[in-house]
Amino acid sequence: MAYQWDSSLETGHVKIDNQHRQLIAALNNIIEASQKGKGSDEIFKTLDFLTGYTIMHFADEEKLQVEYDYPDYLVHKRYHNDFKATIGQLTERLRKEGPTEDMVRTVTSAVGDWLLNHIRGDDFRMAAFVKSRQEDVRNP
Ligand SMILES: [Fe+2]
Ligand SMILES: [Fe+2]
Repeated sequence: MAYQWDSSLETGHVKIDNQHRQLIAALNNIIEASQKGKGSDEIFKTLDFLTGYTIMHFADEEKLQVEYDYPDYLVHKRYHNDFKATIGQLTERLRKEGPTEDMVRTVTSAVGDWLLNHIRGDDFRMAAFVKSRQEDVRNP
């Protein structure tokens, strides 16, 4: 397993944290499929799942930000959009060059590094803001 969940990734927002766990699990499934020498069908299936789950997760985060009037919404959304484009490009490259273990490692490291960074930075800030707004509602 290349990526391990730990408390440094926990934003405190239960739904978002669960989705982040799923994203990391999906990423590990790609790595595992590659290391076990699974065929390219299986590798692209796991990669397609990760892409679909990422898109769903980003949409949920963006909805949350709109709901709470998050001031950095547009910037955060742009990071999401850029990353969706990056995953698309990496997938295309993998299709062209073939999902060799080396290429899969390159793709999963790029995706994993971005994801962990984004969670620890942008997503933490978002979750802290949402939490403070929820506390304002409880203690006006
Ligand atoms: Fe996230
Ligand atoms: Fe995010």
